Amino acid sequence: MSVGIEQLAVYVPPSVLSLDELAAARGVPPEKFREGLGVREMAIAPPCEDVVTLAASAGARALRASRVDPGDIGMLLVATETGVDHAKPVSIFVHELLGIGRQCRVYELKHACYAGTAALMSAADWVRAGGTRPRRALVIAADIARYAIGSPGEPTQGAGAVAMVIGREPWSLVLGEESGTYAGNVYDFWRPLGRREALVDGKYSVECYLEALAGAFRAYRTLERPALGTDEPLSGRLARFLYHTPFPKMAAKAHRRLLEIDWSGTTLAGDRLEEAIVASYRDAVAPGLEAVARVGNTYTASLYLCLAALLEREGPRLAGQRLGLFSYGSGCCAEFFTGLVPSGVAVQAGVAELLRERTTIDVATYERLVREGDSGGEPPPGFTGEFVFRGVRDERREYARLAPALAA
Ligand SMILES: CC(C)(COP(=O)(O)OP(=O)(O)OC[C@H]1O[C@@H](n2cnc3c(N)ncnc32)[C@H](O)[C@@H]1OP(=O)(O)O)[C@@H](O)C(=O)NCCC(=O)NCCS
Repeated sequence: MSVGIEQLAVYVPPSVLSLDELAAARGVPPEKFREGLGVREMAIAPPCEDVVTLAASAGARALRASRVDPGDIGMLLVATETGVDHAKPVSIFVHELLGIGRQCRVYELKHACYAGTAALMSAADWVRAGGTRPRRALVIAADIARYAIGSPGEPTQGAGAVAMVIGREPWSLVLGEESGTYAGNVYDFWRPLGRREALVDGKYSVECYLEALAGAFRAYRTLERPALGTDEPLSGRLARFLYHTPFPKMAAKAHRRLLEIDWSGTTLAGDRLEEAIVASYRDAVAPGLEAVARVGNTYTASLYLCLAALLEREGPRLAGQRLGLFSYGSGCCAEFFTGLVPSGVAVQAGVAELLRERTTIDVATYERLVREGDSGGEPPPGFTGEFVFRGVRDERREYARLAPALAA
């Protein structure tokens, strides 16, 4: 039975900061951010947006695009590491804002940047377990990446959400049934209770990511069907590779590590190996990184932002071909899996339109927004979200849906 992503939609906040400007303000050469990290811009959430409104705006877009009645969603999962309450899940706010029915399993998932994949796999398993029953799940990955001002992580912030309708009519991506997984307790990135910004051992987190990639990819190679021949590369069967992308250069490092493993049984070596790695990155990875370079890190939504942007831009060209996807969450857990782009794929995830409509802010405004945090309030001019966070009253968070004229 085919199970997978029926439709997916993106939402990113309407304000954007140029990383050339941030580099100038921090006294860093702009090439360090542009080439060293591969980032160009980052999305900044205004005070009226938090992870609930990001998730709800993406979810509303996905439901409209798929023409699914909110009452038909039997499972709603929101994956995030930007939770708004220690007990009350982001997903139950989203459940109300989207008008999803009472007969629904609703919960929030957290495992750093891996939770979106945990949600996707749980939803796909739930759909499969339903047999011929017409089950549909809504999975939303949403995050606001925050590091301290002036820290090495600062240029790798961002914000956004990706919503995916999961079911037995996977018009966007048919999920493969096998996954290679890897887990281990490491302190590479964490956010102790009460802290707004993440703590990170940056260089170590890159090492942990690459080690987890090697573990998950090796595990997947043994599960691939039809089985790979001795020393046969898996990459020959995959048209594109999508990676968890905290910053685009990480995807370049990841692809290099993957190919070194995948091609270790071939005769490629020295300059020929180097040329082949560069060409493979150029053709099979780089075209999928444009959106993430302009939005920044969306933590657990990042892999799916890459997927949405790729399918929106190149879906029909990739029809009938398989993609390899790698998910990494610090702490850590990782998963390598594949998906088939079906014929007739027609994804309008909204990425290009959202990126076009954004308003540029300067460094002073960005720093003010960081200080204000998600304090709630009125939407700024040009706001493209559908939901706003009004603020906290009696220790309860209040949200509202904007009138249709105000919502994009
Ligand atoms: C990723 C991170 C550790 C980088 O920190 P940093 O202090 O900027 O690291 P570096 O000084 O090594 O610079 C980063 C890159 O820019 C390159 N660079 C530095 N100056 C440069 C310049 N003027 N022109 C071009 N490139 C430059 C470096 O060579 C390096 O590239 P490399 O990794 O290919 O060697 C930091 O951004 C971070 O902590 N991010 C958050 C955690 C994260 O995203 N982890 C990823 C795994 S989950």
